[in-house]
Amino acid sequence: MSKAHGFETRAIHAGQEPDPLTGAVVVPIYQTSTYKQDGVGGLRGGYEYSRSANPTRTALEQALAALENGTRGLAFASGLAAEDTLLRTVCRPGDHVILPGDAYGGTFRLVARVLTNWGLEYTSVPLADLAAVQAAVRPTTKVIWCETPTNPLLGIADIAALAGIAAPAGALLVVDNTFASPYLQQPLALGADIVVHSTTKYLGGHSDVVGGALVVADADLGEQLAFHQNAMGAVSGPFDAWLVLRGIKTLGVRMDRHCANAARVVDFLTSHEAVSSVLYPGLPEHPGHDVASRQMSGFGGMVSFRMRGGEEAALKVCGLTTVFTLGESLGGVESLIEHPGRMTHASVAGSALEVPGDLVRLSVGIETVEDLLADLADALA
Ligand SMILES: Cc1ncc(COP(=O)(O)O)c(C=O)c1O
Repeated sequence: MSKAHGFETRAIHAGQEPDPLTGAVVVPIYQTSTYKQDGVGGLRGGYEYSRSANPTRTALEQALAALENGTRGLAFASGLAAEDTLLRTVCRPGDHVILPGDAYGGTFRLVARVLTNWGLEYTSVPLADLAAVQAAVRPTTKVIWCETPTNPLLGIADIAALAGIAAPAGALLVVDNTFASPYLQQPLALGADIVVHSTTKYLGGHSDVVGGALVVADADLGEQLAFHQNAMGAVSGPFDAWLVLRGIKTLGVRMDRHCANAARVVDFLTSHEAVSSVLYPGLPEHPGHDVASRQMSGFGGMVSFRMRGGEEAALKVCGLTTVFTLGESLGGVESLIEHPGRMTHASVAGSALEVPGDLVRLSVGIETVEDLLADLADALA
């Protein structure tokens, strides 16, 4: 499979040649921990132990690299396992990381409450303010961590502009591409060094697996990360890798529908009197709209909105929908609704990253859009 092939072709075929043994067109789940050696050191295809490598995981890793146009993909047990492995590969105690002012709560918690104990230092900066990012750079800055769009405020950061700050500073630009997916945004092509995913979300796409991924352009960096992946051991299991691989095959068609349904939901919410504001990069008045239009091919399926009636109204609406399921996570085929302040982002309460209490987040799924609109209309009424 070459880079010349289209996105959907790569999603269905990259790393997924028919099985050489049987011709099975779907990569088998190699549910094995170890492999028979043909004499000591006589490995078949390089497989000796499934923490180090497993054929189902290899297929997923090749597919991930192909979708992000990188040279190397690595699959982990969760998005946070990928993030932890990444940060402890490229940083040393005493190094400094720049985090987005509204980073995903789990990323903030990993850095602020786990890796600071290991000696990592950090500054949270609103990434849309490039002068503030530049001013936060220290001689010890090793990573600028970017999320775009952000979770849950749907902020937009300019990936190419951040790459222009990171490179001269000798820092790596990491982009968490979970919200956009590689179908809508290609960070490596915009100058990022490493792409992070919670494959739990759009890549898996069916809310049935937890996983994470890293993709890099630079082969040496890929080697260092692969060494740490094996040394630290937070790998994706074969069945989980297979589920993500199956999800990836339909990523393109799912994202088209997520975007189309989200646009209709946004239209509906912007004209609803109970809603004080809608946060969606597809809206022309969104401060990141121009940058998002440049660097994304669609605005995605995540929509947040604020309730005129404050936190009480936000909590109430979260409990009243029947097609939108009240739940954490995002990116699956089914629509979800949640209250970030009390749910996904409870870990940043009391910090500078605390999110407003009147905020509601939707992961707009791929159901019949009229049903989604009717459900929201009932709940808001
Ligand atoms: C943007 C983003 N990055 C990373 C993660 C962490 O991924 P995981 O839950 O798979 O560990 C999440 C999870 O919600 C997320 O939303």
